[in-house]
Amino acid sequence: MSKEVNIDWNNLGFSYIKTDFRYVSKWKDGQWDDGALVEDNMLSISEASTALHYGQQCFEGLKAYRTKEGKIQLFRPDQNAKRLANSCQRLLMPVISEEKFIDACIQVVKANEHYVPPYGTGATLYLRPFIIGVGDNIGVKPAPEYLFCVFCIPVGAYYKGGITPVNYAIADYDRAAPYGTGAAKVGGNYAASLYPHELAAKAGFADCVYLDPATHTKIEEVGAANFFGITKDNKFVTPYSPSILPSITKYSLLHLAKEYLGLEAEERDVFIDNLDEFKEAGACGTAAVITPIGGIFYKDKLHVFHSETEVGPITRELYDTLSGIQFGDKKAPEGWIVEVK
Ligand SMILES: Cc1ncc(COP(=O)(O)O)c(C=O)c1O
Repeated sequence: MSKEVNIDWNNLGFSYIKTDFRYVSKWKDGQWDDGALVEDNMLSISEASTALHYGQQCFEGLKAYRTKEGKIQLFRPDQNAKRLANSCQRLLMPVISEEKFIDACIQVVKANEHYVPPYGTGATLYLRPFIIGVGDNIGVKPAPEYLFCVFCIPVGAYYKGGITPVNYAIADYDRAAPYGTGAAKVGGNYAASLYPHELAAKAGFADCVYLDPATHTKIEEVGAANFFGITKDNKFVTPYSPSILPSITKYSLLHLAKEYLGLEAEERDVFIDNLDEFKEAGACGTAAVITPIGGIFYKDKLHVFHSETEVGPITRELYDTLSGIQFGDKKAPEGWIVEVK
């Protein structure tokens, strides 16, 4: 596609931009239709849709990357498809097959190819797949109809001047309940995080660390990202809990820590009273890959890991390895990259 768009790729942020095409598929009478690309970015839905009243909706976030050779590639979209299916099952919504999910993403990227930022800018095309319960319904029960949509926006490099550490506070609120929806990517978890985020931001922190909702003794999430720490004896450690959103970035880093960096890597409890075990720490997710954690404010003092201003060497190596794979500069493990042709 040769269409030119007038975008300053080096100064893009993370804001909504209407791109040319999005994908919509409708579920009715027990099945999904074939789905199609459309130009209209407005949805017209019943005022009685379950997505509006009972939070029956879920979503995903993934990116398309432009390589040095000018190719476009998706990073592990099968994992997003699987997580979306889990979210759907948790909210009694019809599942989208992995094949349909990946096909929809590819169609949207191809149709909006001119919005995929050039290699070297660090910018990417962010894809937002989502499913919402729609149709006429007022009782608390699953919707009679559903929409599966995928839209995309070009987004800027998360770090304009290289990755830099930030500080976090401990949240006074929970984002999820012990056997609630924390492991599903559903809007309600994000609605619950807006207020604690606002409090942390007002207090001068980047975001807040959520502790486990049952005992408030263990680290779960860092804002909308997963936590990892590097122990003093060089282990990559990340918390395990049924109320954490299983981050695709986190599982990728677990693999890379073991297979590319030769570190021991484990998922286990991380106690907030035991921050001293780590010499480096970070938050990981699709948006930034890794945000190094300078410090965590806990019990009236800032616990600093590596440094408040410098990035630790293992954190940097993990970041360079994963982002190198995403942009096609480093060899990916089998099956991680899907080329958009
Ligand atoms: C609550 C939460 N945790 C973790 C993550 C990181 O997940 P991923 O690495 O799949 O982007 C996200 C972002 O999707 C998130 O919203």
